[in-house]
Amino acid sequence: MTNNKNVEAEKPSPAPAPVPAAPVSRILNGLNALRRDNPWPEFIYGEIEPFFLPLDGGRRAGCEWGGGRELIIDTIRERKVELMVEVGCFLCGSTLQWLRASNKLTVIGVDPWDSNWAAYIERLAVDPLQMRTVFHLTDEQIAAIVANLRRHGNFAIALNNVRLFKNRFIPVRQRSPDALEYLHAREINPQMIYIDAGKHREDLDIAHKLFSQAVLCGDDWLWPDETGVMRMQEHVKLFAKENNLEIRNQRQSWVLLPGKKSETPPAGD
Ligand SMILES: C[S@@+](CC[C@H](N)C(=O)[O-])C[C@H]1O[C@@H](n2cnc3c(N)ncnc32)[C@H](O)[C@@H]1O
Repeated sequence: MTNNKNVEAEKPSPAPAPVPAAPVSRILNGLNALRRDNPWPEFIYGEIEPFFLPLDGGRRAGCEWGGGRELIIDTIRERKVELMVEVGCFLCGSTLQWLRASNKLTVIGVDPWDSNWAAYIERLAVDPLQMRTVFHLTDEQIAAIVANLRRHGNFAIALNNVRLFKNRFIPVRQRSPDALEYLHAREINPQMIYIDAGKHREDLDIAHKLFSQAVLCGDDWLWPDETGVMRMQEHVKLFAKENNLEIRNQRQSWVLLPGKKSETPPAGD
């Protein structure tokens, strides 16, 4: 009698089915695809006066930039940065500073540009602690900005301010950190990431995890929360320590650069 069990056992085991290759979609990767999928809004560019309104606390006499932004501008120039992500663009005042710093630079601007900032600008213009941010604008200009924001919304007005840089600014209307994951999945490799959003440690961690080669920098070094703690400074200091990065800071601005490697002492020391 044939022992079916043994016959089965002697059969060569079938070759494993080939693992299907992961679908590769180059259609989604790179800057051209990002531009295609994040278009500029249809807008009457050219009919509304653009304006320059960075939230940097206003420029001091003798300083070319407000908020210590020289630090960021110098880093863009010295490191020849050609691709930068800005997290939190607001009305693209800061973005204009980066774009003007180098004509080789493309900025990916991440911001939901949600709600409406008209009332915020109205309040800013009369708040004694904040009004110097708009000292360079006349009352008529401020009134026009407020009216245009009410009428056209944040997104269109922000992009109108950088309209001369249409080929070097890509708006990504999302929130960090999801937006960073989105860029990473699309194989975008920024050399620098400027963070000026919710003052969360998470933004630093995720930016560094996904884009370890990128120089991280940002705003809010001297920004106190409601308890008086300089929250972003605290995050940046701890993050820099944990990741062996060197901090440079100037007024509100900060930059993290690779730290000096700790030298192993020679044997016998
Ligand atoms: C202080 S403003 C940015 C100012 C701007 N960089 C400048 O200097 O003019 C903060 C911005 O962060 C945006 N924002 C808040 N949470 C965000 C998030 N999770 N991801 C991206 N942007 C965010 C807000 O919509 C707002 O425009």
